[in-house]
Amino acid sequence: MANPSILILAGDGIGPEVMAEVKKIITWYGDKRDLAFDVSEDLVGGAAYDVHGVPLADETMAKAQEVDAVLLGAVGGPKYDVLDFSVKPERGLLRLRKEMDLFANLRPAQCFDALADFSSLKKDVVAGLDIMIVRELTSGVYFGQPRGITTLEDGSRVGINTQHYTTEEIRRVARSAFELAKRRGNKVCSMEKANVMESGILWREEVQWVHDNEYPEVELSHMFADNGAMQLVRWPKQFDVILTDNLFGDILSDCAAMLTGSLGMLPSASLGAPMENGRPKAMYEPVHGSAPDIAGQGKANPIACILSFAMALRFSFDQGEEATRLEKAIEKVLADGVRTADLMGPEGGTPVSTAQMGDKIIEALEASL
Ligand code: NAD
Ligand code: IPM
Ligand code: MN
Repeated sequence: MANPSILILAGDGIGPEVMAEVKKIITWYGDKRDLAFDVSEDLVGGAAYDVHGVPLADETMAKAQEVDAVLLGAVGGPKYDVLDFSVKPERGLLRLRKEMDLFANLRPAQCFDALADFSSLKKDVVAGLDIMIVRELTSGVYFGQPRGITTLEDGSRVGINTQHYTTEEIRRVARSAFELAKRRGNKVCSMEKANVMESGILWREEVQWVHDNEYPEVELSHMFADNGAMQLVRWPKQFDVILTDNLFGDILSDCAAMLTGSLGMLPSASLGAPMENGRPKAMYEPVHGSAPDIAGQGKANPIACILSFAMALRFSFDQGEEATRLEKAIEKVLADGVRTADLMGPEGGTPVSTAQMGDKIIEALEASL
């Protein structure tokens, strides 16, 4: 049987730096665990614009549709700020999500014991934290019509984006959240602004419908998203699975990142409906961006990107035990005090570069054999 296929789209800024560490880990799995992948690489974001004049070439889009999993680094950067909106690096990422129909973005926020002291919140607020944000990824205000900037008769301008959700778009992502909850703490908290937005009212009603008709055994609660942001910082351990829309999910997940210590720690899986082989179409991407302020300096934390590959092992390649091995290796390295700059607090530790962090994780993988 052919090896499972992976398309790597490292992108811009720290994307290629953190992805280099994932590549080492993929090679390790081939050499040491007899888990070989057919890996190909291509361009996305500014890197694609520089070569093709677009942030995602049609051929790259076609390849992404073919492979078992896409691994994405990050896109964007100040160099591309001047570009027309239609060819900005971020459009390449949004096209991948939309055309692959990756509607459920799983963003787990777990606080590793070794980092509980490091969070900007008190230790007992974050220690042992394990929550899962399920962000709708292919609709909402990111894609709704009408949109654009128009000039009115009096010469003033209007910027328009439209929050837009259909019954089915809400129901399918709600099912993803309930399914996950059943395998975790059996609780879903859905967040919207039903107090001010009609789309929020529909969201709440449809999530409740999926619950009542298909998952009555899962505990469901609803919260306004602004209160949700506050509760995430006040007492995040009250949550198990948080279900929310595209824009609120973007913001709430960056917020949740800081519960884990750093944005450089948060992985994600963007999943579509199951394909013929029973696996979902999938792209794995760290939650962070291209971090222009530290790009090219060997400072980036590769753990978010490596943990995203662990999610690929679990969700696309049916290798749950190997995913756990990788997560445990990361836990061990952190427990040993190994720290990239973003994780370095007053209590100190062994400072390492991006590449050294990757090497330490490989050492821990070796030790696990
Ligand atoms: P960012 O996530 O790139 O950076 C925010 C802050 O977090 C910066 O201080 C950065 O140094 C730090 N940081 C992020 N990842 C880190 C890591 N792995 N290790 C250590 N520190 C890390 O967000 P931004 O600065 O708002 O955006 C920069 C560019 O990235 C923009 O063009 C934006 O559109 C793009 N972006 C892309 C993605 C993506 O590709 N998925 C996500 C978010 C932002
Ligand atoms: C993310 C990013 C993206 C988003 C951008 C870069 C398109 O912030 O993945 O969190 O807004 O979804
Ligand atoms: Mn974001």
